[in-house]
Amino acid sequence: MLELRDLSFTINKDGEDVPLIDKASLKVPAGHFMAIVGPSGCGKSTLLKLIAGINVESEGNLFWNGRDLSTEGDLEPAEIGYVPQFGIAYDQLTVEESIESAVRLRVKTRGRQAFHGLVDRVLEQTGLDPLRHRPVRVLSGGQKRRLALAMELVTDPVLLLADEVTSGLDPKSEEEIVRLMHALSRKHHRIVVNVTHSLANLDLYDSVLVLHEGRVVYHGQPRALDHYFSVDEVEDIYPRLSKRSAEAWNSSWEKHRDDYYQALDSASKALEVEQEEVDATVDDSPDLTKSAATPGFIAQFFALFFRRCRIFARDGGQLFLQIAILLGFPVLVILFALNGVGETRSLSDRLPTTLEEYQQEKEIVEHNLNLGGLVSGLVMFQVILLALMASNNAAREIAAERLIFEKEKLGGVRPSTYLLSKLAFLGMLVVIQSVWMAVFVQNICHIPTVQFMPQMLLLLLANAAMTSICLGISSMAKTADQASLLSIYLVGFQLPLSGAVLALPSVAGWITRPFISAYWSWAGIMNSLEGSFRSAVDKVTDTWLAPSWICYAVLIVHIVIGLFFAYVGVKKSRWE
Ligand SMILES: Nc1ncnc2c1ncn2[C@@H]1O[C@H](COP(=O)(O)OP(=O)(O)O)[C@@H](O)[C@H]1O
Ligand SMILES: [Mg+2]
Repeated sequence: MLELRDLSFTINKDGEDVPLIDKASLKVPAGHFMAIVGPSGCGKSTLLKLIAGINVESEGNLFWNGRDLSTEGDLEPAEIGYVPQFGIAYDQLTVEESIESAVRLRVKTRGRQAFHGLVDRVLEQTGLDPLRHRPVRVLSGGQKRRLALAMELVTDPVLLLADEVTSGLDPKSEEEIVRLMHALSRKHHRIVVNVTHSLANLDLYDSVLVLHEGRVVYHGQPRALDHYFSVDEVEDIYPRLSKRSAEAWNSSWEKHRDDYYQALDSASKALEVEQEEVDATVDDSPDLTKSAATPGFIAQFFALFFRRCRIFARDGGQLFLQIAILLGFPVLVILFALNGVGETRSLSDRLPTTLEEYQQEKEIVEHNLNLGGLVSGLVMFQVILLALMASNNAAREIAAERLIFEKEKLGGVRPSTYLLSKLAFLGMLVVIQSVWMAVFVQNICHIPTVQFMPQMLLLLLANAAMTSICLGISSMAKTADQASLLSIYLVGFQLPLSGAVLALPSVAGWITRPFISAYWSWAGIMNSLEGSFRSAVDKVTDTWLAPSWICYAVLIVHIVIGLFFAYVGVKKSRWE
């Protein structure tokens, strides 16, 4: 039994408390199929989120089998299935893979057989078996809703909450989905609650709750609706509602509630007897009294990591872009260095040794300055392009799938596991991009560093720092577009504020430099140049070159700060 007692949810708008749900009270017995209906914006989704534990009530209490959920602990993630208004499956996966992924993240199964058994059972239960190999991308609206329900059924929840899973469907598909939910409520004493704007198929529900401006104005059997609202057709209820204030409707409901609840009670008792008879005859059944255990950290990590890799490999556009910039950017660096490539190999050989050459000293000094500028520019260009790759790697990584992640968090996925799976995936990209950039450019241009390793490490750290910061942005941002925009700005400011091209006024330099990853990577590499080049660079730039250890340290600090924000962001609840 689910019971709400005077449950309210109030938000603060311009300093004023506005109740979105106002003292909602209702009882839903086990095995019951309930609809929450009402005009748009009346608070249906808000009420459902209160029941799901996504919204925290401002006042009142929620009870589950007599247990006060706010003081005696919430339902386990496996006990609740919540199907939100948005899609929760990845377009790039197939129906079967989506369900497998839900199982891996939410259910501890013993052995392969149990795993596949569960996937098959859910596919059959929801009629998705014939579509198991079809990509989510090509499913119809009704099939997608079916899949969303299926993904929630993997834990055999005792409470299944669905938000508008029938909206936007053609009448036939709508009825099919309502029938499916009805069937799901007829098993294992499961309560199924469906929020819908639509007033079709109401007779399939055990009870209908009508919400009007955040208040309960009716909760009873569907067949008593037209009598209660004095309408000929249920479709006339919404126009009728608008004729009186929500308070008036609510107070007349409070007067009549007991009578309607009595009728509902006797209907529920009959239903219970019926269900017990069904239970006695069928036993295909997982025991709903003990909840499925959530998989451990490692199992969830691998499930998330491999799913990310799979989605990456299937996303043609993203894959193409990644390969294009992985191969294209280093070539771009080379193109710009083309004129000087041969010369960087031979600067030290050309230092004057004979009297004749001393006469050419002026020319050679000039030449060296040019080469110093070239090497400095070349390295900065590498760093900037890696920063661009970094923002492409990470800016949308979390923000673009935020709602799916929130949904999975509600289902028991740990934020730390999720973040680690992102780090593993992005770490892979960072290493490949940075090492390839360093090796390719080095082989063709021969950047004259004393050792190759520090140079490669500094490029890698530059990419890792920007990736980490952009991931932090992605995790804190409200939308993926906002995250992309901010990250691109950040990359755009790297070059002008690095001081590698034009020295900044000294005060401005000191203020901005700490934030510019590109500067620290570039300065570190400049420090590792062979002596003659290092002095040539010193002559062409007025910008202060920080000692190497500081460069490493600052880049590491950037990585840590990015990770900190990424962690804070994934811990936050962000359903909007
Ligand atoms: N967190 C929130 N902050 C401010 N306003 C909200 C919030 N959640 C919902 N609302 C507003 O409350 C009203 C009810 O929203 P909702 O429950 O989504 O309605 P329904 O699902 O019935 O269409 C809407 O006007 C919506 O804009
Ligand atoms: Mg809604």
